[in-house]
Amino acid sequence: MNGENIGVRFHQKSSVSRNKTGGLRLQVGQKGKEEREGERVIISLSQPGLSQSSLEKTIADRRSCRTFSDQPLSFDHLSTLLWAAQGVTGYHHGRPLRSAPSGGGRYPFDLYLFIHKAEVLSPGLYLYKPRLHAVQQIRLGSFSEQLSTIGLEQELFHSAGAVFVLAAEFERICSKYGERGYRYVYMEAGHISQNIALEVTSLGVGSVPVGAFYDGDLNQLIGLDGEKHAAIYMHAVGTLSE
Ligand SMILES: Cc1cc2nc3c(=O)[nH]c(=O)nc-3n(C[C@H](O)[C@H](O)[C@H](O)COP(=O)(O)O)c2cc1C
Repeated sequence: MNGENIGVRFHQKSSVSRNKTGGLRLQVGQKGKEEREGERVIISLSQPGLSQSSLEKTIADRRSCRTFSDQPLSFDHLSTLLWAAQGVTGYHHGRPLRSAPSGGGRYPFDLYLFIHKAEVLSPGLYLYKPRLHAVQQIRLGSFSEQLSTIGLEQELFHSAGAVFVLAAEFERICSKYGERGYRYVYMEAGHISQNIALEVTSLGVGSVPVGAFYDGDLNQLIGLDGEKHAAIYMHAVGTLSE
């Protein structure tokens, strides 16, 4: 390992030491109801239910799944998965706190989702709005072919019902922690993805986290600049085959 290695440089630049320290209430909409805010279409999600399965069983049963059935994802399951990933679960001095921990409560992540096969939501690109527990429609259309190419031709994109994309806006966290904020972004991606994986298991559907993708192409497809705001991690979800 030497100082030219980008991984070593990233780790060193985001390190801290003793002399270098880094530095709405939930609106319950009507399930599936489409509302227009100017040009924006916002669709309210359903509230999560509480499953009976134990956390230990859920952890033991979690397994990556790469082949999904033709059955569309249920709207309730999708709603619960979005809540598990980034839903508002409490308040601190009036500020919403989300389901996954975040360094300094800065919440640098936006959760995009490509819908392929799901109830209520037409195929397209959406953005989860945690405070509203709703999704905003960004663009309608089928993106599974493009995603498959972007995801290094992995077969799983052809049968997944939805693909979540965790995208970070670095300034939200780097404004507090400087370069160390980049590390925190990657740590938080793991928290969010694990929440999705465990909720998927608890609901009896399937998923796989995806780290192999062409960054530039994915950012372009979503409309992110790739520098200030970039896709970090994907998570494909679908119903299990019999
Ligand atoms: C950071 C990360 C990136 C991953 N990327 C992919 C991927 O691109 N494609 C894939 O099929 N699985 C991917 N996986 C899933 C792993 O292959 C899987 O977790 C591993 O084989 C262990 O199996 P299990 O998840 O069933 O326990 C990724 C997992 C992690 C943690």
